[in-house]
Amino acid sequence: MQHKTLIELINSEPSHHEITVRGWVRSFRSNRFIALNDGSTIKTLQCVVDFENFEEEILKKITIGAAVQITGILVESQGQGQTVELQVSKVKVLGEADPEEVKLTILSPKRHTLEKLREQAHLRVRTNTFGAVMRTRSKLAFAIHEYFHKNGFFYMHAPIITGSDAEGAGEMFHVTALDAKNPPLTKDGKIDYKEDFFEKETNLTVSGQLEAETYAMALGKVYTFGPTFRAENSNTSRHLAEFWMIEPEVAFNDLDANMDLAEDFIKYVIKYALDNCADDLEFLENRLLEEEKSKPQDERSAMKLREKLQFVLENNFKRVSYTEAIDILKNSNPNKKKKFKYIIEEWGADLQSEHERFLVEKHFKCPVILFDYPAKIKAFYMRLNDDGKTVRAMDVLFPGIGEIVGGSQREERYDVLKEKMEAMDISAEELYWYLDLRKFGTATHSGFGLGFERLVQFATGMGNIRDVIPYPRTPGNAEF
Ligand code: 4AD
Ligand code: MG
Repeated sequence: MQHKTLIELINSEPSHHEITVRGWVRSFRSNRFIALNDGSTIKTLQCVVDFENFEEEILKKITIGAAVQITGILVESQGQGQTVELQVSKVKVLGEADPEEVKLTILSPKRHTLEKLREQAHLRVRTNTFGAVMRTRSKLAFAIHEYFHKNGFFYMHAPIITGSDAEGAGEMFHVTALDAKNPPLTKDGKIDYKEDFFEKETNLTVSGQLEAETYAMALGKVYTFGPTFRAENSNTSRHLAEFWMIEPEVAFNDLDANMDLAEDFIKYVIKYALDNCADDLEFLENRLLEEEKSKPQDERSAMKLREKLQFVLENNFKRVSYTEAIDILKNSNPNKKKKFKYIIEEWGADLQSEHERFLVEKHFKCPVILFDYPAKIKAFYMRLNDDGKTVRAMDVLFPGIGEIVGGSQREERYDVLKEKMEAMDISAEELYWYLDLRKFGTATHSGFGLGFERLVQFATGMGNIRDVIPYPRTPGNAEF
């Protein structure tokens, strides 16, 4: 017997051979029309049951959420919106779903809020919205690997458990095999990590960058793509405690080449989504249009989802220095009217997301790459400019998202790096291996990190980052 997935069937020609499909019942109308979905596509296959010739017992078990195996012949559809349908000869119920219990879940056929769906994260992927988002997420991940492999990069697996804090920001989850309730203590009452599995204090990685740099200085072009962890207590629609990051690192690239790479890479994966996720993006676009209807006219988006994606492909990202951006922000509010939140008085201040969004959405109206930030607000490893106060940092800012990429040209000069580490209280002893790169054949090199979930958010139009990752980890949320 030939089993087919729906994606293979939906656009195929009618055929006189019997075929068998398997999936879950989305609806069963008039004891006659089963809408079957198997997850391979957002579309359902209409399966037409000749109910008079079916056992009552079986018909009763064809309920929403049940897993079924259906055999029949693919014929031209009489209905609208589909080319083929299955004329059913046999239904086997593989797994029942009690309608009374289904009613209590998000599988029940009515509109549920995204918050409600989040509470049942194990079931939400069976809804059209989450099926579309998660298929798109998977395709984007594939496109990322494809891009780098086409461009001569090697995939490097950075460690998840590490002894270093790559960002020097202290936002780490500690990893220990010690008895949490009764840990061994040093003489001065601190946890004695010498007694631990690794015989030192370790944490979950906040970024694979430093390790990726060591590989770039040997293999030339590398990228990591893995989970990263931040113990920052941010309850926003853009932050997760566990997120996936893509970090390319390239020997001999300066900041300009780094910007070129970021722009080319992002455009490639967005184009891939447009070309390969058409049905899902169409569904998500319509979902957004529906959502927009409840907003006042002037707050509605001028562009549809796929137009926004297309717009990114067709326009150059605007490259602007931090200093220019501060001038724009200062001048955006000449009268200091209260209703403008965008005002920044001080050169040197870190940009808040409202500033970033003002620049992207109101001022330039396109993706922006900000570069040459004040050294004081950026990490220790970024290359110091000749002015002595800015570093070769870059952030890519996207409409609706804010920062999607953070990167830099790295400080390749041993003495300058060492001095900076001392000034920022970063142990040269612990990071001796990182300093070694600057001793043995040092070279200009650059890289960046792209937050995968922020990319998925942009591509799918989902407003909350919790809705683009299967099981979001946020403060207070580690169920499942
Ligand atoms: O700007 P970040 O902190 O940069 C780094 O980690 C560098 N080591 C990257 C590099 O140069 N190799 O993070 C990079 C990106 C951000 O621009 C954002 O898209 C994402 O990672 N990101 C988060 N995404 C979700 N939740 C969080 N808590 C995130 N923190 C950063
Ligand atoms: Mg950043």
